[in-house]
Amino acid sequence: MSVPAQDLAAAAAVLEEGGLVAFPTETVYGLGADAENPAAVARIYEAKGRPSDHPVIVHVAPGADLAHWSDDIPVEAEQLVAAFWPGPLTLIVKRAAHIPDAVSGGQDTVGLRCPSHPVAIELLRTFKGGKGGLAAPSANKFGNVSPTTAQHVRDEFAAELDSGLLGAVLDGGQSDVGIESTIVDLSRLATHGPVLLRPGHISSEQIAAVIGRAPAVADAAAPRASGTLESHYAPHTPVAMQHSDDVSATLNRLLNDGRRVALIHYSDLPPASASVRLAAKPENYAHALYASLRTMDQVGAELILVEAPPTGPEWLGVNDRLRRAAFGSSGILQQFLSV
Ligand code: TXA
Ligand code: MG
Repeated sequence: MSVPAQDLAAAAAVLEEGGLVAFPTETVYGLGADAENPAAVARIYEAKGRPSDHPVIVHVAPGADLAHWSDDIPVEAEQLVAAFWPGPLTLIVKRAAHIPDAVSGGQDTVGLRCPSHPVAIELLRTFKGGKGGLAAPSANKFGNVSPTTAQHVRDEFAAELDSGLLGAVLDGGQSDVGIESTIVDLSRLATHGPVLLRPGHISSEQIAAVIGRAPAVADAAAPRASGTLESHYAPHTPVAMQHSDDVSATLNRLLNDGRRVALIHYSDLPPASASVRLAAKPENYAHALYASLRTMDQVGAELILVEAPPTGPEWLGVNDRLRRAAFGSSGILQQFLSV
């Protein structure tokens, strides 16, 4: 799905004047602002209701000069850029001095990513003639499920579109990958080696194949990325995960008790009050996951029951997002089953 050239030009003009534009990426939709304009970046925090000490990723056009954003680009970064950009990989590197504190969350690093969605690329090539960067977190209110369609963004930011705080939403169809980019921290290579801050479509194995060593997994107790807060990516309805072997019995029991249960599953299971069946392939599952959580959040269920996906390395990103979606509801299933 493409966007008319005049809409892209108008969106770039809004951004150059310090306004906000939501745009599609291959992972999820982003809420963009000029990364070199602190007042513009502050509007992102205002619109999202997000704490201002959380850093945002800077999106750049293909072929962008990374030396503009960092004085210290390690060879590993160049290798990963060559292998995976444009694509769903964010690299954390030491930041250049001129990058606003609002972008780096006051840290000495910056997250850089070149998205592969054609509309994102066109926007980045138009904005400041391709020489700028767009600071863009996922285009959802703080803590909510990330958007994978333009309609999700319009629903979530209806008031901000009305007030003009959000200048435009570019529609690029449904995001292909469906979960946020893989984040690798290369800013402390000498002391920590490469560190995986967030699993995603690009796996540790793929990264290891390019830079010669697998990234360490970040310590969950010391989150440096806001997406690593346990309560992230959650729908409003409580979410509980159940092992494949147990989900059928749990479902029967809850339905017999008169509970309204929404079910997200991938194997053969009896119908619940509402159900979505996802493909048993990680790419397809990830593609539909957030839209499914949103749909199941709107059916008036007391619980979203999720059949836990397989645990292989290719399922890491999906399991990570589901674990976070379920985090705030721990104990709810026990409570339902104990009455
Ligand atoms: O796929 C994606 O990455 C999407 C699309 C829009 O590009 N963006 C996204 O942004 O997921 P956001 O803000 O929702 O999550 C970005 C994550 C946050 O957890 C943030 O803390 C982390 O990246 N991050 C950004 N800059 C960082 C830095 N300098 N150091 C550590 N973490 C950083
Ligand atoms: Mg987010």
